[in-house]
Amino acid sequence: MPAVVERLRAEHDAVALEDLPDDTSSVEVAVTSARGGLHAREMDRLPGLRAIVHFGVGYDSTDVAEASRRGIALSNTPDVLTDCVADTAVGLVIDVLRGLSAADRFVRRGDWAAGATFPLSRRVSGARVGILGLGRIGLAVAHRLAAFDARLSYHARSPKDVPWPYVATPVELAAGCDVLVVAAAGGPASVGLVDAAVLDALGRDGVLVNVARGSVVNEGALVAALEGGAIAGAGLDVFADEPRVPQALLGRDDVVLLPHLASGTVETRAAMADLVLANVATFLETGRLLTPVA
Ligand code: 8YV
Repeated sequence: MPAVVERLRAEHDAVALEDLPDDTSSVEVAVTSARGGLHAREMDRLPGLRAIVHFGVGYDSTDVAEASRRGIALSNTPDVLTDCVADTAVGLVIDVLRGLSAADRFVRRGDWAAGATFPLSRRVSGARVGILGLGRIGLAVAHRLAAFDARLSYHARSPKDVPWPYVATPVELAAGCDVLVVAAAGGPASVGLVDAAVLDALGRDGVLVNVARGSVVNEGALVAALEGGAIAGAGLDVFADEPRVPQALLGRDDVVLLPHLASGTVETRAAMADLVLANVATFLETGRLLTPVA
């Protein structure tokens, strides 16, 4: 985000990774995001690195195990983006079930004016919704959908103190819902959590929504499930190899494709920027991060 770069340059002695001087020993903090991340090769170049500050709640683009092995602290930007990401998830649920984006294309193409009828869609209110990953964002999605009288259930690493039923496996969760919303953290532990078996269980009228990370869904299996009619549709803000979106999805009316925009509002990105700057300043002053990753 250009404003973050400007402020880092104005408030600190900041330099872009590609402009690093030969002697990098004085670099103490690295700022990065879901798009970049830090791996062993960058950490090797920064022998004095003590903290990695992530712009975003997810930090799976960074080699966390390597950072922790080297004693490098890590922070993210939790809470400030929860509402916007949850709003986007609900938007995708409504869009895919009601076919809003497809209907917009139908009108623009002139199909309506030509006398065609847009097909009936599926009801949002009262739908059975399974949430995969009940962290801050999953919880915010659940609260929003509760206002739509959704019949909620969830799967997470452990049961939470919430009024909705915990389901032991992703397959069982998918089997019992109409819409599966993926809100699980990315990273090695969740790679391919939504696979062919989960999509089969979701079923031919089922819909997948993903606002987490592309890596949580086996994208090949998702394309195959859509093409084979194993599920009814998908709403995706994240992909396995961004910004590349599988060609097979581009022409489909049963999918809604977003360019990883869930946290992308003026207000939320400003709050994320403030939190990044505050983490950097606090760390340089006190050696502690404000919002460290546990
Ligand atoms: C990105 C996100 O960080 O917070 C996250 O984990 O995926 C987003 O908010 C943001 O788009 C910057 O890459």
